[in-house]
Amino acid sequence: MTTDSKKLYIKTYGCQMNVYDTERMVDVMVHEGYTVTETPDDADLIVLNTCHIREKAAEKVYSDIGRLRVMKQKQVKNGGKETLLAVGGCVAQAEGSEIQRRMPVVDMVFGPQTYHRLPEMTKAADKAKQAGERPRIVDTDLSVSEKFDSLSQKPITPKKTAFLTIQEGCDKFCTYCVVPYTRGGEFSRRFEDVMQDAVKLNDAGVLEVTLLGQNVNAYHGMSALGEEWSLARLIRHLADTTDFKRIRYTTSHPGDMTDELIAIHGEVEQCMPYLHLPVQSGSDKIVKAMNRHHTIATYMKTIEDIRKVRPDIALSGDFIVGFPGETDADFQKTMDVVRQVNYAQAYSFMYSARPGTPAAAQDDQVESHVKSERLAELQAELNRQQRAFNDASVGKIMPVLLDRTGKEASHLVGRSPYMQAVYVDVGTEEAAAQHFGKLVDMKIISAGPRSLKGEFVN
Ligand code: 5AD
Ligand code: SF4
Repeated sequence: MTTDSKKLYIKTYGCQMNVYDTERMVDVMVHEGYTVTETPDDADLIVLNTCHIREKAAEKVYSDIGRLRVMKQKQVKNGGKETLLAVGGCVAQAEGSEIQRRMPVVDMVFGPQTYHRLPEMTKAADKAKQAGERPRIVDTDLSVSEKFDSLSQKPITPKKTAFLTIQEGCDKFCTYCVVPYTRGGEFSRRFEDVMQDAVKLNDAGVLEVTLLGQNVNAYHGMSALGEEWSLARLIRHLADTTDFKRIRYTTSHPGDMTDELIAIHGEVEQCMPYLHLPVQSGSDKIVKAMNRHHTIATYMKTIEDIRKVRPDIALSGDFIVGFPGETDADFQKTMDVVRQVNYAQAYSFMYSARPGTPAAAQDDQVESHVKSERLAELQAELNRQQRAFNDASVGKIMPVLLDRTGKEASHLVGRSPYMQAVYVDVGTEEAAAQHFGKLVDMKIISAGPRSLKGEFVN
């Protein structure tokens, strides 16, 4: 790579789907001769890959744009190059040209389904700049298949762990959620296309693959033979035909946990004992008002069934407190479910009213201080459960895939089968380089609230 290649800086907000999209944007732009830089200061192109799920995440984008505006102004004043600023992802999809109206410093706006056209957009923006005009590019088309067709031609960033998007968008329309509007309707990629990407990852030495989708367990990709592939069948096929040592999938909807998929957890060795299965609330009244298409009883039955085939499975979930109309009694039902399930980890949020969603228009919104109190009570219990789960790992031997460097040069970090972060001090930087990327058996020697410490077993 020449030293005068253009530089790209991407900041990723939000979920794993955005992390995947960022990796694909890097692939696309590296193809165009860009190199990645870790700071916005020296970038030719800055992309903010944004999240719209809650108000806080969306507002953060605007404060970041404000800071970048100051940086750009300084660059111009100093006679330096002026960076192109692009806003991508779900805020871009939801707000479109409104972003440029509010923040004229933004040159390009594109959604989660159009980033494969980044090279064209960038060229058009550069051309406008050269002509002394303000680029005002907006591309927020929502059709998914063209993107994947185009991306499949590009190389895939090689690592030991990788995300592979197999499904996108959602047709469930939970009444609080922006995803059906920002990511579009449910779309399953074709079986052959998924396998083509899987084989590339496999050939590049990837050991752990995480199949991604907003509703990944609703996957129903068609094959060229006209057969429909479920997620369960796809996992089994990947386990049989690749060298992946670990297969994970996220995020799942409780209504799509089929018996076939539950059975996989007991039958396929590569399918990791970890399941993220959001229930959002423990109250039937609230899950109904959320339009979740399941009851608490069916959720609990799924948990029971999966524990029958995989007793050691680590369960994770998402919770929303203070959904409109949630009473103290409803919230206590959430606490009951949490105590019954006993989660290994979980994510919990205060309900955030999102523009255009049905729940935002309800007139029985819960007061902010009540939401905070409920969140604190819930998180105290979830933290206690996570700590207990981590403490119970001490003394056990488990395989860890060391795919990240730690705080010190001699530290490596990886994931246990149960998704816990495990770190090890290997003594020297050289030893760290030697063990990086390896899947090794480790003895867990201590536990913290969010991570474990391990040592090698000979
Ligand atoms: N307010 C709060 N939390 C939300 N989530 C989705 N929409 C909202 C909202 N409007 C949470 C849900 C979902 C996770 C990704 O984000 O728990 O599972
Ligand atoms: Fe949003 Fe519900 Fe779809 Fe999940 S299932 S993406 S919460 S609408």
